[in-house]
Amino acid sequence: MSQAKNTSENSYQISTVGIIGTGQIGTTLARLSVRAGINVVLSNSRGPESLRSLIAELGPLAKAGSISEAIEAADIVVATIPLPNYQSLPAGELAGKTVIDTMNYYPIGYNIEDLDNNKFTSSELVQQHLIGAEVVKAFNNIPYPHIALHARPQNDPGRTTIPIAGDDEEAKGAVEQFINTIGYDTVDAGPLAESWRFEPMTPIYYWPYAPVVPEGTPDAEARRIYQTTFVDPLRPAAAQTLLKETDRKVPVGGRLDILPPIHLKLYEEFTKGRY
Ligand SMILES: NC(=O)c1ccc[n+]([C@@H]2O[C@H](COP(=O)([O-])OP(=O)(O)OC[C@H]3O[C@@H](n4cnc5c(N)ncnc54)[C@H](OP(=O)(O)O)[C@@H]3O)[C@@H](O)[C@H]2O)c1
Repeated sequence: MSQAKNTSENSYQISTVGIIGTGQIGTTLARLSVRAGINVVLSNSRGPESLRSLIAELGPLAKAGSISEAIEAADIVVATIPLPNYQSLPAGELAGKTVIDTMNYYPIGYNIEDLDNNKFTSSELVQQHLIGAEVVKAFNNIPYPHIALHARPQNDPGRTTIPIAGDDEEAKGAVEQFINTIGYDTVDAGPLAESWRFEPMTPIYYWPYAPVVPEGTPDAEARRIYQTTFVDPLRPAAAQTLLKETDRKVPVGGRLDILPPIHLKLYEEFTKGRY
């Protein structure tokens, strides 16, 4: 079985990332991975045939596969599907793997009681399901257009910071290296039990990475502003402060009405015909 290995102190071999979910986040992380020279195996619920044009666009480092094939090939797996479907992730096959969890709880049309009453964070639930895997939460707090837009090489002054959380230090080390390689600095928010600090509606969620689109901006201009405007990079120290200076939210979960209409419009367009 392939798996990220600590080849020396603070160095992991990450040659292939397996991606489960080829929506806005999965495709964006695939693009950044390929750009950094990392192989990707992409999978979704519709099967590899649905990924033909995406694979052609991504080039020779990318392959489409079944979910099992994506997991088998991966040094790191990215699970980036809607949270209500997390229990469909194949726990047996993922055992022994490092799994990046990008998923967020938006309780729209469903509820999870253990999240509503703050018994667990959403990533703790994912970890409880994925017995034997090491779950690391990451990339859940930055909107997809801005993941692509803000990726920068190491030491670039425009490089921004995202938080990670996980219960296993080795797994966190591997994920940190992967994220550093594709364009971001990281800060450690602690174990999964602390990952509420960057769940939806917290200060480090969404707003530090997205430009303000003034209300009433005409559609074309709103698209341009939203998709191409850089915001000031979030430095690691500032990210740590945002993580520290937050309270656990009640009610739990994200709300769509606080996102700019252009974000929702782009999502609708992206998913058109799929759901
Ligand atoms: N969009 C954002 O800006 C953003 C930012 C941060 C975090 N997130 C979170 O990241 C996750 C993914 O978001 P997204 O916007 O990329 O979602 P999305 O565009 O709706 O795409 C979801 C993907 O998951 C696949 N999928 C659904 N159920 C599956 C299953 N049971 N097994 C395998 N694949 C499955 C879908 O397959 P098909 O393609 O075959 O339908 C689709 O490719 C969500 O939990 C979201 O909350 C999103």
